[in-house]
Amino acid sequence: MDAIELARLYDFSGQTIVITGGTGSLGGEIACALVGCGANVAILDRNLDPAQHILELMEPRRNLAVAVSADVLDPESLRQAAKVIQEKFGAVHGLVNAAGGNKPQATTGPNQSFFDLPPDALRWVFELNMLGTMFPCQVFGKIMADRGEGIILNISSMSAFRPLTRVLAYSAAKAGISNFTQWLAVHMAQAYSPRIRVNAIAPGFFLTQQNRFLLLDEKGGEMTARGKSIIEHTPMARFGRAEDLFGAVLWLLSPASAFVTGVVVPIDGGFSAYGGV
Ligand SMILES: NC(=O)c1ccc[n+]([C@@H]2O[C@H](COP(=O)([O-])OP(=O)(O)OC[C@H]3O[C@@H](n4cnc5c(N)ncnc54)[C@H](OP(=O)(O)O)[C@@H]3O)[C@@H](O)[C@H]2O)c1
Repeated sequence: MDAIELARLYDFSGQTIVITGGTGSLGGEIACALVGCGANVAILDRNLDPAQHILELMEPRRNLAVAVSADVLDPESLRQAAKVIQEKFGAVHGLVNAAGGNKPQATTGPNQSFFDLPPDALRWVFELNMLGTMFPCQVFGKIMADRGEGIILNISSMSAFRPLTRVLAYSAAKAGISNFTQWLAVHMAQAYSPRIRVNAIAPGFFLTQQNRFLLLDEKGGEMTARGKSIIEHTPMARFGRAEDLFGAVLWLLSPASAFVTGVVVPIDGGFSAYGGV
């Protein structure tokens, strides 16, 4: 192995990667990083308004990317999207499940007890994260099974290892994603092909749309007590930045991790390792 061979492992030219939630904060950044490494990228989202901006960030390689409308909770829309992507790029090599999130209505707090959480909000969070990962795996995993080759990368969370206070449906769903990642890794390898791998990353705390209301004060933008507590429990003493994900994401999508399947990699500045003392 030398530096040239190593770099070749991370050359994604000719590889097509689908990213659900591809217009979101982390999904959009991952999409740009993949295009930067030569991949064809299909940005999937239910609302494509922000896609234009992401495509502009990809210049001069924006011709490698396409934005396609799909709802991760609607398998038919995913199948339609898969058709469009295959017509444009041919095969699908990889899938990144970045659609997910939480909402205030499904979060306990001083004005909302566990007993009062509306079923609709709990269902929304649970389904978006859990089924919103399973359905794309069914649609794009089938394409990979037919080819006998492919890579799936799910996004779990710190809340999967030990549940975070307040965010119960999100924590339960992310624990489900870690469990499902292991299940699907075994199933794909045994039932279809050992050349289909399924892994996950578990990001720590990255300041984005889904958690801003928990980490920053609505009015002044100051860090909330919860935000401060997270920083105190993160040995690296900061929130994550999207680029902190790139090394692990590219590794897990590339042949550099050819013998790795069924793992959940924390990218958390040491949060999950810290006992608090
Ligand atoms: N930020 C963090 O600290 C952190 C930590 C651990 C894990 N994660 C996970 O990382 C992933 C990305 O998070 P993020 O922070 O980048 O969140 P984000 O900015 O809210 O991105 C999520 C994207 O998913 C899209 N989406 C929501 N429902 C959808 C649906 N039914 N069909 C298709 N797309 C849908 C959203 O579109 P709309 O804008 O239209 O809703 C948005 O573009 C999520 O799974 C999240 O749980 C984040």
